[in-house]
Amino acid sequence: MNKQVYTRVAALVLSIPFLVFSCQSPSEEKEPKRGLIAEKAMVVSARGEASRIGIEIMKKGGNAFDAMMATEMALAVTFPFAGNLGGGGFAVYRLANGEIGSIDYREKAPGAAHRDMYLDENGDVIPGLSTKGALASGVPGTIAGIFEAQAKFGKLEPKDILQPVIDLARNGFVVSTQQAGRLQSIREVVREVNGENTFYAKEWNAGDTIKNIALAETLERIASNGRDEFYKGETAKILVDHMQKMGGIITEEDLAAYEAAWREPIVFDYKELRVISMAPPSSGGVTIGQILKMVEPFDLKGMGHNSADYVQVLTEAMRRAYADRNYYLGDPDFVEIPISELLDDAYLSNRMESFDPEKATLSSDIAEGSVLFAESMETTHYSIMDEEGNALAVTTTLNGAYGSKVYLDELGFFMNNEMDDFSSKAGVPNMFGLIGAEANSIAPGKRMLSSMTPTLVERDGKLWMIVGTPGGSTIITAVAQTILNAYEFDMTMQEAVEAPRFHHQWLPDQILFEENTLDSTLVQILSAKNYLINEGRTPIIGSVDAIMVLPDGKLEGGADPRRENEAAGY
Ligand code: DON
Repeated sequence: MNKQVYTRVAALVLSIPFLVFSCQSPSEEKEPKRGLIAEKAMVVSARGEASRIGIEIMKKGGNAFDAMMATEMALAVTFPFAGNLGGGGFAVYRLANGEIGSIDYREKAPGAAHRDMYLDENGDVIPGLSTKGALASGVPGTIAGIFEAQAKFGKLEPKDILQPVIDLARNGFVVSTQQAGRLQSIREVVREVNGENTFYAKEWNAGDTIKNIALAETLERIASNGRDEFYKGETAKILVDHMQKMGGIITEEDLAAYEAAWREPIVFDYKELRVISMAPPSSGGVTIGQILKMVEPFDLKGMGHNSADYVQVLTEAMRRAYADRNYYLGDPDFVEIPISELLDDAYLSNRMESFDPEKATLSSDIAEGSVLFAESMETTHYSIMDEEGNALAVTTTLNGAYGSKVYLDELGFFMNNEMDDFSSKAGVPNMFGLIGAEANSIAPGKRMLSSMTPTLVERDGKLWMIVGTPGGSTIITAVAQTILNAYEFDMTMQEAVEAPRFHHQWLPDQILFEENTLDSTLVQILSAKNYLINEGRTPIIGSVDAIMVLPDGKLEGGADPRRENEAAGY
């Protein structure tokens, strides 16, 4: 590996430079901090190996879509926490010629799923049924998504793209310190769900090498037989057989019927920026659009980054946007979504009319949901820019950490617990505390509402930023703040990624701040206006991987030091 080309930018959360919210501009008198700079192409992802494999594919003549296939599968090998074959995701693209689009490879409810499948005879939600075990899984979309995108826009053969990933699975990857901790923390539940002899029940320590031969073999079959191997071949049969033995309901017909969907992205303007983000069944694009358009009339720069006024205005926009999200949004193939109305300027300015700078607006009288932020950063996002100027923002997930915890030992991967993203019962919060409504109820073949927000931003008509993050319900607000950090406060890409973040999602009615980021003045000002403040409930908010195109055309990576993200480029 050439160390000058591949720079590791991972660091501990304690080294984040702008650690504290304050009433002054945090970047005063500081030298700008830059992420990795590359001349032509870049990948930023949750694992160094995955970023480097994407770069290797581009150096072999592949483009961003070829690199997507390689990076996504390399994450499945090295980052089983969220990287996946058993999950789903979304990718938003902008081609070098300015054409934009997106692909939805979100999981679908199996054919035998039904609206009340997680309720007991009294109509109460059965705890754990939508989050753990075989019944928690939707029909996976990842293989369909990466093959569909690569077939339409890629340049190389899938078998050539997958070969370095197969080698990685066979030769192994080294367990990082964070990863050892995560594997340790789920060992018991993985044993409970899959039995004593399951692969990830073993004791893995930092520095150990994990060789996943079963996954290498699965990938070899997929490389030889294409996407149908996963949906109609031997892999499909093994998956269904395993899941059904564990009480799951996914059938061979469900897999055979799965198709990824091309969607028109959500596009809106914020001042001189044009933001291109994911459409439903992700709530990401609509909700980030509502938030940014509601704050657009305010002088955010004049307020100061993370000042009390800034936190207040953004919180009020977030609160209003999430209330709409939870009521109106769902799978567009099943429910009608008033997208243009939700993003209408007059509607949004009307929505902010009740904003009172002197005091908090109350979300509602509904009791706060219980939010399980312990499992909070399990999705994964990667950003890719190739030499030709094609850009991709991709967010992919199993939902919770290691998904449903069901591990298919014969195939070498975990299955998702995405069914929890549906609204099991109106008014009852899911694992992110999100309260759902009818639009997001369960139905066979329907996709569950997501918060994943892979996003591209143009400035003056040219691509400027590729951005996204994990974080469940906090994804949308983390992406919004990263864009505002760079645009309103002139931060570099790396600074915009590192700056402390906060979050409000309507219910529960509280502002979440990252651990150790608050100063007492800010707490006093916000508390005096009736805001409920929750610091450290979630130690971090998001783990952003972003790329900025600099004025000279070079690329700056923003790899979030909150986790072990890494940029690679050339
Ligand atoms: O699609 C969604 O919104 C969730 N399944 C994302 C889950 C996630 O980000 C987990 N990590 N924080």
